[in-house]
Amino acid sequence: MALERTFAIIKPDAVSRNLQGEILSRIHKAGFRIVAIKTMILTGGEAAGFYAVHKARPFFGELCDFMCSGKIFALVLEAEGAISKWRDTMGATDPKKAAPGTIRHDLGTSIGNNCTHGSDAPETAAFEIAYFFSGVELI
Ligand code: RTP
Ligand code: MG
Repeated sequence: MALERTFAIIKPDAVSRNLQGEILSRIHKAGFRIVAIKTMILTGGEAAGFYAVHKARPFFGELCDFMCSGKIFALVLEAEGAISKWRDTMGATDPKKAAPGTIRHDLGTSIGNNCTHGSDAPETAAFEIAYFFSGVELI
C-alpha cells in the first residue's frame, strides 16, 4: 500500500468536551504522522463550502450550524493507506453502529455529534487538504 495523506477534523462536540488530547493519542497509537494541525472556528460560509457535496441532503443546515458552533482542529494525517485507515479508526458515521474501540463508538454521542471527520476518497482528500492548508504548511 502506498504512503497517502488524508484530511481529518476533530469536531466541535469533541473539542467542547476536551477530547482533543484523547483523539490525538488515538491518532498516534494508530500509527499516523501528523503532517499539519490547526485550530479555528469556521464561519457559516466556510462550513457550507467544505460540505458542499451534502448541500441537497436534509441535514445540511444542521450540519453546517454544528460545524461552526465551536472550535475545531483540522489535521492532515499521513500513513500507508491513510484514507481507509483513518475511516477505520473513526468507525461508522452513527456511533450506535460503530465497532467498539473506534473513536465514534467510544466517544460519539449521536450521528451528528460523532466527534471526527475523515475524507472518503483520494479526490475528496486532495480537495479538503487544500481547503484548509497551503503548500508551505504541508511539509
Ligand atoms: P464525515 O464526512 O463527517 O467524515 O462523516 P461520514 O463520511 O461518515 O458521513 P457523511 O455521509 O459524509 O455525512 C457527513 C456528516 O453529516 C452528519 N450526518 N447527519 N442527521 C443525519 O442523518 C446525518 N447523516 C449524516 C454526520 O455528522 C456525518 O459525519
Ligand atoms: Mg463524509
